[in-house]
Amino acid sequence: MKVAVIGCGSMGTKHINHLLELGHDVSICDINANRLNEVAKKFKIEKKCGNFKELLDLDSLDAVVVATDTAFHTKISCYFAQKGIAYYSEIPISDSLADLRFLTTATIENNVISMVGMVWRFHPAIQKIKQLVQDGIIGKVNTVSSYGGEYLPDWHPNEPYKREYSALTSKGGGVIVTNISGLDYLRFICGDIENVFAVYDSISHIDIEAEDFFMGILQFKNGVFAQVYSDFFQRPVEHRLEIVGDKGKIHWDHNHKIVRHFSLADGVSGNWKEYPYELNNFHTLYKEEMKHFLSCVQEKKETMVPVHDNVLSVIVGVALKQSFIERKMINVSSMKWSNTVEFALA
Ligand SMILES: NC(=O)c1ccc[n+]([C@@H]2O[C@H](COP(=O)([O-])OP(=O)(O)OC[C@H]3O[C@@H](n4cnc5c(N)ncnc54)[C@H](O)[C@@H]3O)[C@@H](O)[C@H]2O)c1
Repeated sequence: MKVAVIGCGSMGTKHINHLLELGHDVSICDINANRLNEVAKKFKIEKKCGNFKELLDLDSLDAVVVATDTAFHTKISCYFAQKGIAYYSEIPISDSLADLRFLTTATIENNVISMVGMVWRFHPAIQKIKQLVQDGIIGKVNTVSSYGGEYLPDWHPNEPYKREYSALTSKGGGVIVTNISGLDYLRFICGDIENVFAVYDSISHIDIEAEDFFMGILQFKNGVFAQVYSDFFQRPVEHRLEIVGDKGKIHWDHNHKIVRHFSLADGVSGNWKEYPYELNNFHTLYKEEMKHFLSCVQEKKETMVPVHDNVLSVIVGVALKQSFIERKMINVSSMKWSNTVEFALA
């Protein structure tokens, strides 16, 4: 297939690499001429340009991959949606609900296949947990506890992290929206969210403009309650999840590559059942994700994360931010965008 990658930075080059490995015909675009030329040389790509609109003069595209700074995701995706071209956008798709309304409408009206890069949905642990919950192995889910932490300066060690999108509110940064995939996989496992509340701020030594931690409470439509913690100021990386149901509980620790299940019926001396998984390189998940997207484009079927689904995760992120400003629990369906979401899902 003919696929263009827009934005040739850290994520863009991963996608280029995977697309070439999968045998696709790749063209590239970046506003930074030096980077564009370097990447073109490295991957021996001839079709390149500095303005995404020029890509259409280079090729008749089947799909585009948008891997620019967050602030451009919606605008560029929308441009291609209006031309009927499938798009995969990096996350977060946007931190603005108004832009998303426009994009979702253009995607649906033009019958375009869309996907937002929620890579954790392809993670073997998340898939296993979803399956265990769906199979009812712990009965009715009551509570969820999600803990995550990373060290933002480690993301791009050679660049001044305080000026990166993830550190700046104006560029759609901050831990809540930048780590939206953590909220998305809770929706993937537990369903849609009804009410939210959070506290967040920039409090640590990394001293960034946007919030560097948040603690949130989520109430799901099916009655599940979750507490969520995420920060940008700790080493090593941590991702843990605990789910407690009427018949037992599930634990996952990213660093130990194991999902564990304990059944209440086994009594106090019962044993954990363990589900180890192999994942030596997290980046292989991005390749799986890209394969999934392109097979959906080819077969003209909906992806695992179409834009109208991802909007619901963004709304949760925006509602979490709003809740601390208003110092009250926010009802997610009361967010102004909700009518359009219903339209999108209809
Ligand atoms: N899916 C994930 O797990 C994941 C992980 C990290 C980052 N991301 C997201 O990927 C996106 C890119 O992150 P990155 O770390 O690769 O950033 P980066 O700064 O390394 O690369 C971004 C590139 O986009 C280019 N660019 C910016 N505006 C452009 C435009 N209008 N047209 C063409 N090129 C443009 C820049 O020149 C730069 O080369 C971010 O939105 C980030 O949130 C996703």
